[in-house]
Amino acid sequence: MTISRRQFATITGAAALATALPRPSRAQQPIVIKFSHVVADDTPKGKGSLKFKELAEKYTNGKVKIEVYPNSQLYKDKEEVEALQLGAVQMLAPSTAKFAPLGAKEFEAMDLPYVFADDATYDKVVKGEVGTYLMAKLKPAGITGLAFWDNGFHMVSANKPLLVPADFQGLKIRISGSKIADMYFRKLGAQPQIMAFSEVYQALQTGVVDGCENTPSNYTTQRFHEVQKHITNSQHAHLQYAVIVNSKFWDGLPADIRGQLEKAMNEATDYTNSIAQKENADALKEIIASGKSTVHTLTPDQRKAWVAALMPVYKTAESRVGKEVLDLLERHRTG
Ligand code: LMR
Repeated sequence: MTISRRQFATITGAAALATALPRPSRAQQPIVIKFSHVVADDTPKGKGSLKFKELAEKYTNGKVKIEVYPNSQLYKDKEEVEALQLGAVQMLAPSTAKFAPLGAKEFEAMDLPYVFADDATYDKVVKGEVGTYLMAKLKPAGITGLAFWDNGFHMVSANKPLLVPADFQGLKIRISGSKIADMYFRKLGAQPQIMAFSEVYQALQTGVVDGCENTPSNYTTQRFHEVQKHITNSQHAHLQYAVIVNSKFWDGLPADIRGQLEKAMNEATDYTNSIAQKENADALKEIIASGKSTVHTLTPDQRKAWVAALMPVYKTAESRVGKEVLDLLERHRTG
């Protein structure tokens, strides 16, 4: 991996490199796991990471300390991935849109429009062969995948109603990194722009971009709905995360501790996935009640027009994510 001198300066330092391996477990000196993420505590991922902290510290009897850094406090999207590889942090949970820098573009197949008919289909897919296939892609980058965490379906917003594809014409829409999202917004006639999550509110407020997509819990906790007059609950794509660790760190842990952490992760995963739907339903109610943004639901005909505009992405997606993952996904999401 090549990094600029600036990134090197922000991420490294002797201390950072030293944390790539678990510290010797002298009595009373816990192994520290820094878990960095970009969303608020009060979201499915935020709550999931705190649940993992609680369970991991309990099951290891305090031998492991989990330090959770939410809201891009330590690093923004791209930087946190570099920090993980360098060992400056040990654990992240980026969305599948953000895995290309780890050489795993296949994750972006999960960002395809309408790829999951419902949450049950999503759940079945990540727990099956597709999930295993994707996690294996991370190994060459020195990364181990531990779990998939759900955050439901995307909405999309701007300062005008977005009801039919023509409404997107010429709009600058912030995307988080996936080339698949780039493809689908272009099919709608928009101009997608990649931007770090922590910069979106200001970009919307100042008009650097006209709109964005995200789940209700990310809208409320970042206050996007206060700077977007119209939101369409389009459910055009799904937002999910992979919880990942630095392999050198993970493999270097004593086996009993790793086992306890796996147990904590499995339970934190069940917890996160069990609250995601309700968290987002509550956030949507909060947006509607705030009166700050008008929430639109598409009519069957409008939805049909979106589907017709977006489905051609499946033809171009292969050039980005490869045929293998698309075939696998197709078998498991429809089978
Ligand atoms: C985004 O950058 O829009 C999201 O992926 C943030 C997140 O982690 O939910």
